[in-house]
Amino acid sequence: MRSNMNSRGLVWIVVLCTVHLNVVKSLENGLARTPPMGWLSWERFRCNTDCKNDPDNCISENLFRTMTDLVVSEGYAAVGYEFINVDDCWLEKERGFSGELVADRERFPRGMKDLSNYVHSKGLKFGIYEDYGNYTCAGYPGVLGYLEKDAQTFADWDVDYVKLDGCYSHPRDMDRGYPEFGYYLNRTGKAMIYSCSWPVYQIYAGMSPNFSSIIQHCNLWRNFDDIQDSWASVESIIDYYGNNQDNIVPNAGPGHWNDPDMLIIGNFGLSYEQCKTQMALWAIMAAPLLMSVDLRTIRPEYKAILQNRKIIAVDQDPLGYQGRRIYKHNNIEIWSRPITPIYQNYFSYAVAFVNRRTDGTPSDIAVTLRELGLSYPGGYSVEDLYEDVNYGVLTPQTKIKVKVNPSGVVILRADVQPQYEHSSRFSQPLRTPYDPYNQVFQVRQNSF
Ligand SMILES: *[C@@H]1O[C@H](CO)[C@@H](O)[C@H](O)[C@H]1NC(C)=O
Ligand SMILES: *[C@@H]1O[C@H](CO)[C@@H](O)[C@H](O)[C@H]1NC(C)=O
Ligand SMILES: *[C@@H]1O[C@H](CO)[C@@H](O)[C@H](O)[C@H]1NC(C)=O
Repeated sequence: MRSNMNSRGLVWIVVLCTVHLNVVKSLENGLARTPPMGWLSWERFRCNTDCKNDPDNCISENLFRTMTDLVVSEGYAAVGYEFINVDDCWLEKERGFSGELVADRERFPRGMKDLSNYVHSKGLKFGIYEDYGNYTCAGYPGVLGYLEKDAQTFADWDVDYVKLDGCYSHPRDMDRGYPEFGYYLNRTGKAMIYSCSWPVYQIYAGMSPNFSSIIQHCNLWRNFDDIQDSWASVESIIDYYGNNQDNIVPNAGPGHWNDPDMLIIGNFGLSYEQCKTQMALWAIMAAPLLMSVDLRTIRPEYKAILQNRKIIAVDQDPLGYQGRRIYKHNNIEIWSRPITPIYQNYFSYAVAFVNRRTDGTPSDIAVTLRELGLSYPGGYSVEDLYEDVNYGVLTPQTKIKVKVNPSGVVILRADVQPQYEHSSRFSQPLRTPYDPYNQVFQVRQNSF
């Protein structure tokens, strides 16, 4: 079978073998078996420390307590959002007398252990932010020189998730420094998800990150720019991941994820269609789903996007394969991710059709399942994950047509349809040789 495989198939085999090797050597702290989900303050609330004039929006224990309450009461926890993550600007500018980290005494008067207890009392988990440097990006004390002490402090506060940024440090030092801090986290005996900014700072410095080491020491990591509240920013991230997918995709898997940064759904900068696109593509990319939005004021249609259980299920698929951009032409893109269930070594797929065009009318995309790489002869049960439309069982020869709004998305799920023994029509062909990895290939441009 290998001899008559096309070159695309070969690439995919290499990719999956790499994933397999990575799984063997990856960080095994038992955490983040699927991409972490939760709420993170940075994109929406930034470094607002002005509690005098803006008490409801400043970085303070009140803000995190309020968001904790809303994650539970508004149904986010019920669909899987679990972490309440503090970002930069929670610290005093100076360490304490014995060199310990101290939370800002006015904005976090009860301290971080108390906030952590509060989050846990609501059944959620608590995340915190630090920086592998002399300072955090906003100028608060970094962990450099205090690695062991700070790891222990986080364990003492019952922290479940640590994001370690990379400002005010030398990217060359990170190959040693990030593993070292991870070592001290591990030594505390308290299981903490470890989110690293290691590769992105090295890429900015013109270095090639050592991803086999990064996978071994981090549960997730940032590859690219901070997300901003604009469609241009989301597009730049989509393009980065698509253009560099051959290097990026193989690194993802259970326990170790690429992090394209927060969900900005429900804020000021994206239209409704664009919000749907971000959610769909983050799920295809097996991205952490970290909302950064004011849950007090989010409109119901955006809340519905964030709580779309079918799309969350794609993101959280247990196989943990990150999806790929399989087609890009005339500002139309198709992204595809292999997911469960698997039957007879054929994957199921989530497929996202993205319209990056700006001519103000929906674009039609027509393609057969086979052209998408869905070749299981028994067919696939196909449903639309936003529109609640079920197309029934479609065979590989079926041509599907979707209408995609400008800067919008249509995301389908195609579950391989098991054929049982009594189905004489398919029972024989299923036993013919096939290559399970030769299923995703470039959709031919002339098929549109
Ligand atoms: C951190 O501070 C120390 C002491 O001032 C200094 O020697 C070191 O170069 C600084 N490191 C970075 C990465 O700036
Ligand atoms: C520490 O590392 C060991 C070896 O990888 C692992 O088995 C253990 O679960 C880790 N413990 C914590 C608390 O991360
Ligand atoms: C990358 O990291 C791995 C694992 O830590 C190590 O064995 C290897 O030598 C590193 N590669 C380079 C090019 O430094």
